[in-house]
Amino acid sequence: MRIDVITIFPAMFSPVLNESIIQRAQDAGLLDIRVHDLRAYTHDKRRTVDDRPYGGGPGMVMKPEPLFEAVEAIRPQASAGCTILMSPQGERLTPVLAKKLASMQRLIVVCGRYEGVDDRVREGLADRSVSIGDYVLTGGELPAMVLIDCVARYIGGVIGNEKATEEESFSNGWLEYPQYTRPPEYRGMKVPEVLLSGSHEEIAKWRHKQAVARTQAARPDLVQPKGEEPWTG
Ligand code: ADE
Repeated sequence: MRIDVITIFPAMFSPVLNESIIQRAQDAGLLDIRVHDLRAYTHDKRRTVDDRPYGGGPGMVMKPEPLFEAVEAIRPQASAGCTILMSPQGERLTPVLAKKLASMQRLIVVCGRYEGVDDRVREGLADRSVSIGDYVLTGGELPAMVLIDCVARYIGGVIGNEKATEEESFSNGWLEYPQYTRPPEYRGMKVPEVLLSGSHEEIAKWRHKQAVARTQAARPDLVQPKGEEPWTG
């Protein structure tokens, strides 16, 4: 998959994306991430990307022209992909959306900054707006990196063990059960006996019970009113 990112802070990306699993995915040719400086698509001497809002109000708004020109320069004519505007007003990133995006050949991710982005970018340029959660960050760069990391995990071959994305939190509707490794006792805290028993059936039952209890305690909003069917994204 190829991912193009448009930002006024291109230097923010390499410390995160050029490490660990995402770097390995790029080395293996599974991911091709290219970060573009929005200011390269301005035409004035000061390389202006923002302006005051019509109607007044605090802060600045990102101008539409550099964003349209950047996306149009990067996006192929017949695009088999998706142009995404990172925005706290967008739809929420979920495992379902991440899997859908992971099936595309190309993504273009636009990072907003300042107090907002001219709404014509959402209306006439982006295919969808995506939020990573109900809080506002100083810009779309961190959300873009979160989205890329989340989507990359669903691309075949990126994570060594494909089962990891099947058993993890959210994918089966419940938060993940508690995990332990050696030693069997640490500072008086013991690994639950059942995990040392070797009985796969008992272990599976215990894990499911723990997953349900955890979800009910930490995230009652994920449990359907009947308490039977878990949330599935
Ligand atoms: N930009 C600022 N806050 C954001 C959020 N929560 N999600 C996506 N983009 C953002």
